[in-house]
Amino acid sequence: MQLLTPQQIEQASAVVNGLSPAQQVWVSGYLHGLSSQQVDIGATGLSVSAAAAPAVAQKVTVLYGSQTGNSRKIAEKLHAALEAQGKDVTLSNMANYRGNSLKKEEYLFTVISTHGNGEPPDEALGFFKFINGAKAPKLDNMKFSVLALGDSSYDEFCQTGVELDTKFAALGATRLNDVILSDVDFAEEAEEWHNAVLSQLEKASGVTSSIALGATPPAAGSTEYTEQNPFQAEIIENIVLTDDGSDKSVLHLELSLEDSGIKYLPGDIVAIQTNNAEDLVSGVISNLGLDPDTSVTIKKGTYTLREALSAKRELTHVTRKQLQAYAELTSNTELLAQAKEKSQLEYELYSADILDVLELWPAKLDAQSLVDWLRPMGPRQYSIASSEEASPEEVHVLVKHVEYHYRGRDHGGVCSSQLAKSETGDMLGVSFKDNASFKLPENGDTKVIMIGAGTGVAPFRSFLFDREAKGIEGNTWLFFGEQRFQTDFLYQTEWQQHLKSGVLEKMTVAFSRDQEQKIYVQTRILEQAEQFYEWLEAGAHIYICGDMHRMAKDVHEALIEVVTKQSGRNADEASEWLDQLVAEKRYQRDVY
Ligand SMILES: Cc1cc2nc3c(=O)[nH]c(=O)nc-3n(C[C@H](O)[C@H](O)[C@H](O)COP(=O)(O)OP(=O)(O)OC[C@H]3O[C@@H](n4cnc5c(N)ncnc54)[C@H](O)[C@@H]3O)c2cc1C
Ligand SMILES: Cc1cc2nc3c(=O)[nH]c(=O)nc-3n(C[C@H](O)[C@H](O)[C@H](O)COP(=O)(O)O)c2cc1C
Repeated sequence: MQLLTPQQIEQASAVVNGLSPAQQVWVSGYLHGLSSQQVDIGATGLSVSAAAAPAVAQKVTVLYGSQTGNSRKIAEKLHAALEAQGKDVTLSNMANYRGNSLKKEEYLFTVISTHGNGEPPDEALGFFKFINGAKAPKLDNMKFSVLALGDSSYDEFCQTGVELDTKFAALGATRLNDVILSDVDFAEEAEEWHNAVLSQLEKASGVTSSIALGATPPAAGSTEYTEQNPFQAEIIENIVLTDDGSDKSVLHLELSLEDSGIKYLPGDIVAIQTNNAEDLVSGVISNLGLDPDTSVTIKKGTYTLREALSAKRELTHVTRKQLQAYAELTSNTELLAQAKEKSQLEYELYSADILDVLELWPAKLDAQSLVDWLRPMGPRQYSIASSEEASPEEVHVLVKHVEYHYRGRDHGGVCSSQLAKSETGDMLGVSFKDNASFKLPENGDTKVIMIGAGTGVAPFRSFLFDREAKGIEGNTWLFFGEQRFQTDFLYQTEWQQHLKSGVLEKMTVAFSRDQEQKIYVQTRILEQAEQFYEWLEAGAHIYICGDMHRMAKDVHEALIEVVTKQSGRNADEASEWLDQLVAEKRYQRDVY
């Protein structure tokens, strides 16, 4: 049977010939949709039913707010899939998105992470200010869905995504589905959200796409290393930088990226996969009298209990919410009351691992309930301490070994202890995260002030080696803080060489425990307030890296004091001026 006349074939060819491959795919999906829903092929030939209607054109925007690239990658994948379907789709970073455009949006799909203590990523701060301000428009015509990325070890889990979802609804927009909260193992939720978006749009347009749902495959020939598919990097150097007599052990590790094709920039982050120590896994299993070979399920996967506790579940850190869930699960009302009270159990929650919880508040749990209660294990992130320009196909990290004694037992951080024990030749699973909010200025002549305490100095090693490799001299000032000059002066000889060669113009150190009165980097900043402000006036960019809880806050206070004293602004004005520097990306923080 000849379905089309020669004239119809010619007409169809004329339409299809001018289309891009993506548009052709869309047209095939469109025709497939028409044939399955509206076209009736009778015995006598082709007839279109009276109910046939053209597909509804949809304006779609995929919006993201990301600090370390996870949300961006998910948004990019969704954008690519929608574009391949021929949708009128725009991909926007919140940093560049004009808030006023919101009122024109028809479908807005947002991926957003939470940073700081329940705060938006830096690049999303302006967008949040806008939607929470008086100028936020009514969004009656907008339909939306939010995928929130977070980490349940933080008190304010996925806070930013939740706030955004609530705000859009309050502005009148229609929620397509409840906000999805995803933890450190977000891959499955991200894929489900991706698929849900495609089918929501498909349903709304009345067109069935011929493209299979699911993640867009990476381009042929490219290997994308992710947290789910990390590159196996060989350890080629592992040395302890701190000397005997130090209160801590800080390691410098060099990993080979040979033949991986991985590229990174100074300021970026490497994520290292880790496994719980065998004795901790065995301790938990035997405390509960469980069989290590029992099968348990986590999302769509099945594992033995030992496998799940080794690689899939956190054992070294317990959150308050998790302890509350444990109290409920084990019907321990006394513990529940304590865990709900913020002022109680602080020390236990800082120090205890899962075995401590089982010993302190004994209970019976079966293998599946245990695994369901525990939080997912994520890789640990480290500021990259090397420059690809200076050390091609290598990545270096500076790691403080977390080790302490609690309840008569030695405790260790899962990843840093694994690294402390590892030797050259061992392999580590690594993936990379961009860190757009911690980047050197494009112009090499712009002044750079780097403030780092402890391992916070790591990215500045990367910055300086990068500038050296590019032949950029001067305009750099490093503030470094640690406990003792004799034992804790991390990378001392390298800084001295950079000072000698002129790559580092000025270095100011603060060793807190070398004298009776504590001296920190912020003390030194205040001592040098005049010159510090001169550098700022000359356009310097400020970088702070290291401890989020004390150092970054104290340094920020010191900066306010420098600006008030040197410029005559009052404290509020100085604070606003610093906010302005943040917005201009002249004041960047990488704190943890
Ligand atoms: C963006 C970013 C960059 C980072 N860069 C670096 C870096 O360059 N170098 C670096 O070393 N780290 C860095 N970190 C921190 C790093 O990711 C890990 O959190 C750190 O190495 C600890 O991981 P762990 O697995 O060894 O410890 P975990 O198994 O996570 O255990 C840590 C837990 O142990 C407990 N604990 C720790 N010390 C004590 C103590 N003295 N007493 C009682 N309890 C204690 C605390 O509850 C803590 O949560 C960075 C983090 C981020 C988010
Ligand atoms: C310094 C820092 C602070 C964070 N604070 C929170 C938080 O308060 N709440 C939360 O749910 N997740 C928090 N996270 C986890 C991130 O949201 C999570 O890693 C997310 O996948 C990052 O996505 P992005 O790469 O798109 O920024 C924090 C992560 C970092 C590195």
